Amino acid sequence: MKKKYLLIIILVSNLNCNINNKLMDNHSFSRPDQIFTKHLDLDIEVDFFNKKIFGEAKYKLEKLKSVNHIILDIYNLKILKIESNGTKCSYSLGKHDSIFGQSLKINLEKHYDEISIFYETIKGAKALQWLDPNQTAGKKNPFLFTQSQAILARTWIPCQDSPGVRFTYNAKVKVPKNLLPVMSAVNPFEKNDIGIYNFTMTQPIPAYLMALSVGDLQFKKLGKHTGIYAEPSMLLKASFEFENTEKMLKLAEDMFGKYLWDRFDLLVLPPSFPFGGMENPKLTFVTPTILSGDRSLTSLIAHELAHSWSGNLVTNKTWDDFWLNEGFTVYLERRIIERLKGRDYSDMLTLLGKQDLEHTVSEIGKDHENTHLKLNLVKQDPDNGLTDIAYEKGFFFLKLLEEKFGRKQFDLFLNKYFNEYKFKAIDTEEFVEYLTNNLIKDGDIAINEIQIDKWIYGPGIPDNCPQVKSSKFNKVIQIVDQFNNGFKIEKIKSNNWSSHEWLYFLRNLPPNISYDQVKNLDDMFNFTDSGNSEILNIWFQIAIKTNYKKADKAMEKFLVNVGRRKFLEPIYSELMKYKPNKAKSIYKKARMNYHSVSKSTIDKIVF
Ligand code: BES
Ligand code: ZN
Repeated sequence: MKKKYLLIIILVSNLNCNINNKLMDNHSFSRPDQIFTKHLDLDIEVDFFNKKIFGEAKYKLEKLKSVNHIILDIYNLKILKIESNGTKCSYSLGKHDSIFGQSLKINLEKHYDEISIFYETIKGAKALQWLDPNQTAGKKNPFLFTQSQAILARTWIPCQDSPGVRFTYNAKVKVPKNLLPVMSAVNPFEKNDIGIYNFTMTQPIPAYLMALSVGDLQFKKLGKHTGIYAEPSMLLKASFEFENTEKMLKLAEDMFGKYLWDRFDLLVLPPSFPFGGMENPKLTFVTPTILSGDRSLTSLIAHELAHSWSGNLVTNKTWDDFWLNEGFTVYLERRIIERLKGRDYSDMLTLLGKQDLEHTVSEIGKDHENTHLKLNLVKQDPDNGLTDIAYEKGFFFLKLLEEKFGRKQFDLFLNKYFNEYKFKAIDTEEFVEYLTNNLIKDGDIAINEIQIDKWIYGPGIPDNCPQVKSSKFNKVIQIVDQFNNGFKIEKIKSNNWSSHEWLYFLRNLPPNISYDQVKNLDDMFNFTDSGNSEILNIWFQIAIKTNYKKADKAMEKFLVNVGRRKFLEPIYSELMKYKPNKAKSIYKKARMNYHSVSKSTIDKIVF
């Protein structure tokens, strides 16, 4: 071939790969299309005194194109030295961006097979929350946990921080002798005398599923493949609450194919954990705010378990495709719950989800592009665009497919999808192609009845959204109507309501409810002292707007202790609307107890 043509081909293919890279991941500096990390050996020490993690991250690399460097993502990591096969490597750092951090470009000189980065985290590393003993249940020992999703893995490990890149890992972790470390890996069941622990994760995972927690933890077995890690004083309550975990695992396997992560254990964190749950493989992290004492919030466990198929096995390629993780997971979650508790029960969750969807669409704006399933979060912190849209609009799209094609056919499709894409990432475009090749083969149905494009690339809630009815909730609405018509609350027959019915009742109270009505309700049902965090969340919002001061003390205690963003966001927003000074004074006390992701959300509301 003539040189001139060769040059043109090289130029064109370079151009293509730049374009591809733009499509690949807007939220990572790395170029896994050129060279990628396929295995990590992590050797770190957790230093509670200085609140830092330090050590070595050694990667095995696989080169796909002719390059002489690799780019990793870092965010405020102190890089001490970099080596490859014992030889020092030169490197350069890109400009720091407050959302994405910086690129770490390492020159590979001669060796392309491995790279060792010696580093330490800085004091405020965003993924990490260091808790003092008084922020734990036991009050005697400090505690640490990580939260890496969406792009915080780079704040504690240098990595190709893109959900499309998977690697296996081994880790050696040194901790103070009285504490037990656990990871998203095969975990120890008890403490040892030396304080050094080894972990293995032989299934390849993306960086956002890297997780570590260290504390005074104990293990309690639930079933053959399931168990709980928690501080000793929490173990009994947790093992009652999560008793159905092994059963849910079997139900899920029965519907969606074999569970490929060996164990499914739960770690109960202190209340500052910013999420309800995080699906770290082999070890889901959960908030203690789901320990309601009546197993009414275990759908959250079904949700995190469902991620073992959608999310952890088949992963969204970028955060713009987040609905492929969460929409599928909500669909699977409700199928698991339907098998466990019956259709009446799962219908209640579906209807609450529909309310959440309508609420979120009206908050974002029904024509806003952030209500599309396929997002476009270029230059934005993905954390801001990851809303209920992915969860609930995603769910209803899949529910529509289920209704159109029947469960039997849809389940066959799901099983095939999980099997063919296991341990791989997929983006929305590829999914649509897969869907039209394997389920919706008829172009007319796709366009006329399902309207895939409207659902995925269009705003708001499409008009063919499945209707949901719940006979249990219909009864609740009758009671709400009676209440609105001035019926005395004593006469309301609410016996045997589950917490979901109560939640629906509270959500549907009239917006102009009076102080007297609120007081009357509380005298009767004592919502202010409810042990159910979902009920408290909505109750406090009602109390704020009606100036029902009796709930103030409980609300303040809740806000100071609980760091779960889903609750903090609406409560602080209501407070800012009605009592901004109170919002500010509570936040002043509470802020130090929150993880960075909650802090950054609430800062925007209160400051
Ligand atoms: N993976 C998510 C949590 C998450 C999402 C963390 C985006 C960071 C960025 C987890 O599976 C989740 O969805 N948790 C929910 C609970 C669920 C029942 C809807 C939560 O934390 O509220
Ligand atoms: Zn989820």
